[in-house]
Amino acid sequence: MLNILVLGSGGREHTLAWKLAQSPLAKKVYVAPGNAGTGFDCTNVEINPNDFKEVKRFVLEADIQLVLVGPEDPLARGIVDFFEADPLLKHVFVFGPKQQAAQLESSKDFAKEFMMRHDVPTAAYQSFTVETRAEAEDFIRSSKAPYVLKADGLAAGKGVLILDDQEEAIDALNEMFSGKFGAAGNTVVIEEFLSGIELSVFVITDGKDYLLLPEAKDYKRIGEGDTGLNTGGMGSVSPVPFADEAFMKKVRARVINPTVEGLSKDGIPYLGFIFFGLINVAGDPYVIEYNVRMGDPETESVIPRVQSDLTEIIYKSCLGKLSECRIEISDQSAASVMLVSGGYPEAYEKGMKMEISSDLNGLAFHAGTKYDEEGKSVYTSGGRVIALTALGNDLPSALKSAYEMAEKVQFQKKYYRSDLGKDLL
Ligand code: AMP
Ligand code: GLY
Repeated sequence: MLNILVLGSGGREHTLAWKLAQSPLAKKVYVAPGNAGTGFDCTNVEINPNDFKEVKRFVLEADIQLVLVGPEDPLARGIVDFFEADPLLKHVFVFGPKQQAAQLESSKDFAKEFMMRHDVPTAAYQSFTVETRAEAEDFIRSSKAPYVLKADGLAAGKGVLILDDQEEAIDALNEMFSGKFGAAGNTVVIEEFLSGIELSVFVITDGKDYLLLPEAKDYKRIGEGDTGLNTGGMGSVSPVPFADEAFMKKVRARVINPTVEGLSKDGIPYLGFIFFGLINVAGDPYVIEYNVRMGDPETESVIPRVQSDLTEIIYKSCLGKLSECRIEISDQSAASVMLVSGGYPEAYEKGMKMEISSDLNGLAFHAGTKYDEEGKSVYTSGGRVIALTALGNDLPSALKSAYEMAEKVQFQKKYYRSDLGKDLL
């Protein structure tokens, strides 16, 4: 029996904590800092995941045996290395990669070099630093639009620019080098534009073997028809119809296998999730990016389709025994609709009282929510508020049910996209 601590506070963490808590192996599941939903299903602890000393204090106090890291930030800051280096924490399993491996996400340049070294299909690219700024400009002048510019480091999803105009691209390049994204922009990757539909593929790996989770598609833009500003994600669906057996066979052979084997060949241990952000270019998968964690809001449609005991799978991977595990995936489709606060991703209000019907007929994964002081009413506390997930025999029926749920949760200035999944039908 395990005491488990999940780090993070979004819909992804609520979904993972909810799933882990269902296992007979789970004694108690804590979430730090969590939200109203995780407080209801599990136990919240008021700790910032980046405050490793506080995490340590709580892990020892609550006798935690397993820590699951939800977001990338603590991984990129080396939380796994921190645990390994501390004699009091050494025995605690932390499910997530160490800092070196987390560079697959925290450095575009590291990820690109890794893919080149291991023949993983990705857009052609060149990296430039402030010192080679003039060459970067020449490179843009000699290439064709659209121009894809990526700040090397973590930039909260804002470090990628796709521009049609050459002069604008050069201006953007200079802004990156002038510190628009802080140190994240000291190195800039300029790459070939790939055209196709994106999808997200996930594995759990112990560095030797891996298990494939269901694939998903997320909807990033705020507006219907994929228009307007980028958000943290407006919803997701799983499975993705075009990811048929033939396509997924290519994904395994060309992307997943060389990645997992590549890490091992490079002598980089890896424990955790790998998230492959893929694009389907005329039937062939290319990697747009790696992430070293699950996706949000993909998790909200992926994990409800997993029938196996996730706690057992994660625990076995921590022991390096993932090869002993199988994973059962439901044939049902899942759709998840994110309700957001009006105005998001720009300025929006917080603190709206929420009315959540007691007959939702589906799964409600909280993101930006919190209880009032008496612990009675739930209030909004973020831009992305709650993800409503429904399962159905096919994608249209899952979507229909998820949209019915969306009408059963009320708060002022509620907004959601009503076109999720339409591009796939
Ligand atoms: P990233 O942070 O690398 O995932 O990039 C953010 C988004 O920019 C991706 O989800 C894609 O929609 C888009 N993007 C990134 N790289 C490319 C590329 N080489 N070609 C086309 N679109 C891209
Ligand atoms: N849904 C994309 C991400 O989690 O980065």
